[in-house]
Amino acid sequence: MLRSSILSFLSFSFFFSSSFLAGTVHAAPLCGLVSSSSSASADSAEPSSSANNGTGTNSNSSLIAATWYAGWNSDDYPLSDVSWEKYTHVIYSFAVTTSDDSHVTLESSDAQNVPTFVSLAHENDVKAILSVGGWGGSRFFSTAVGDETNRTAFIESLLSLVSQYSLDGLDFDWEYPNADGIGCNTRSSTDASNFLSFLQALRAEPSGSNLTLSAATSIKPFNGQDGSPLTDVSQFASALDFISIMNYDIWGSWSATAGPNAPLNDTCAPSTAEQQGSAVSAVDAWTTAGFPASQIVLGVASYGHSFSVSTSDALSSSSSSNSSEEGSTTQNQTQTLNLYPEFDATNQPAGDAWDSVEGETDSCGNPTTVGGIFNFWGLVENGFLTSNGTANTDGGMVYTFDECSQTPYVYNPSTQVLVSYDDATSFSAKGQYIRDSGLAGFAMWQAGGDSDDILLDSIRAASGISSDADTDTDED
Ligand SMILES: *[C@@H]1O[C@H](CO)[C@@H](O)[C@H](O)[C@H]1NC(C)=O
Ligand SMILES: *[C@@H]1O[C@H](CO)[C@@H](O)[C@H](O)[C@H]1NC(C)=O
Ligand SMILES: *[C@@H]1O[C@H](CO)[C@@H](O)[C@H](O)[C@H]1NC(C)=O
Ligand SMILES: *[C@@H]1O[C@H](CO)[C@@H](O)[C@H](O)[C@H]1NC(C)=O
Ligand SMILES: *[C@@H]1O[C@H](CO)[C@@H](O)[C@H](O)[C@H]1NC(C)=O
Ligand SMILES: *[C@@H]1O[C@H](CO)[C@@H](O)[C@H](O)[C@H]1NC(C)=O
Ligand SMILES: *[C@@H]1O[C@H](CO)[C@@H](O)[C@H](O)[C@H]1NC(C)=O
Repeated sequence: MLRSSILSFLSFSFFFSSSFLAGTVHAAPLCGLVSSSSSASADSAEPSSSANNGTGTNSNSSLIAATWYAGWNSDDYPLSDVSWEKYTHVIYSFAVTTSDDSHVTLESSDAQNVPTFVSLAHENDVKAILSVGGWGGSRFFSTAVGDETNRTAFIESLLSLVSQYSLDGLDFDWEYPNADGIGCNTRSSTDASNFLSFLQALRAEPSGSNLTLSAATSIKPFNGQDGSPLTDVSQFASALDFISIMNYDIWGSWSATAGPNAPLNDTCAPSTAEQQGSAVSAVDAWTTAGFPASQIVLGVASYGHSFSVSTSDALSSSSSSNSSEEGSTTQNQTQTLNLYPEFDATNQPAGDAWDSVEGETDSCGNPTTVGGIFNFWGLVENGFLTSNGTANTDGGMVYTFDECSQTPYVYNPSTQVLVSYDDATSFSAKGQYIRDSGLAGFAMWQAGGDSDDILLDSIRAASGISSDADTDTDED
């Protein structure tokens, strides 16, 4: 498997995000989503999503089932492996911004695959979306939208890609407006207002009016001029079909302790130190700032973060055992995993075969490090999980499910590697939350991370998408 070499260059968010995100924005990566039906009532001009006449109700058929496809993983995960019939939108990642503001490039994302991507999507009634930016590809977003001249050139460049490849939409994965991303991005205090002007100008173009436009966002609204989140993002909701909130990388190698990669909830966490963000708090932040829930897609992760945690920090022995035979209590003790243990930041475990490695160079020219990312399939391949996606307890793994974040941890006592990740149970909880909260759907980073569609099938069923998506994907 070769992917790791390519990964490091690219924009992915996850891996690298870790080291940089730390102090700034919590959610890292990238990912985007798709169109929302409800936006048709606004000025967005989504063609004719008939299912939802602007009533604001998400019928099952109007929910978005999206995923990002990472072009650089195509040798290991070819486009033909995508479960097309289970998605409404697939987002090819990434076109990256360049120092020539009139230019975006697909270099290093296997651009030769894009025509196949679009045909497979269209054969399956799936919207073919191109994502622009990503962790490593957002360097020149700020200048590309920095003034009207640059916006015009940038829009021309994007629309030419749309036309060249017959794309249905664009996903903007700017990490992040008026905030630090990978560390060498251009940045301006007026990023958010320039971004809005850009989106409005793109919408005003004849060939932009009917595109599906989305943004992959942090768990907080875009930063305004003062560097803090905008309190009114309603105009973005008019210009965009939807946002995909990247609710992952909330905890990782940059954190003070180990913790959940993709918490569903954190308001129930033990103390403010553990309240670093979650789907619940992110949706609250965006809707409070005027972004309708019906245009919010929940970004979900088909991967986890690993931490090096000693067995004494990782495990608590609950003394529920009966020591009727004295001396032999230990064999009867139940070992439970602690939720926010300390970890050894100097000893980052390697992740799976797609993980970033040392000795390469990121888009800022800095050396790459081991990311410690395990895709869901990587957890199976490395013995943490069985092939059905449950913890490999027979193989000595210790599992726990955190009832607040509603995500699992798995621990290998012999290697002292702890992974916080998502499984069928946590994806089901997220799907239920999408349904209960009236969100627009889900978007999974990344399509190739799953194993036998265990995660995908779980969230589709729980959100209510699976009852009709297989046969009715053309509604959006
Ligand atoms: C417009 O783009 C050029 C070329 O990238 C850049 O040098 C310039 O700073 C940009 N203007 C603004 C206002 O960002
Ligand atoms: C968008 O509009 C253009 C021009 O009107 C048309 O050629 C194109 O097919 C439309 N695209 C979609 C996805 O409807
Ligand atoms: C999140 O936690 C709070 C308690 O702090 C609870 O009231 C709420 O129902 C939880 N939400 C979800 C979606 O779990
Ligand atoms: C321990 O023994 C007591 C009484 O013998 C019993 O009620 C209890 O359930 C036992 N607990 C465990 C954990 O086996
Ligand atoms: C505790 O130990 C006893 C005796 O060794 C055994 O019968 C019992 O099943 C054990 N309980 C658990 C929960 O492992
Ligand atoms: C998954 O595999 C484990 C171990 O083989 C087994 O205990 C468990 O019942 C299986 N779960 C399902 C849902 O098949
Ligand atoms: C939506 O999905 C739910 C759960 O799968 C199902 O009960 C319901 O009938 C579906 N409704 C429609 C309109 O498809």
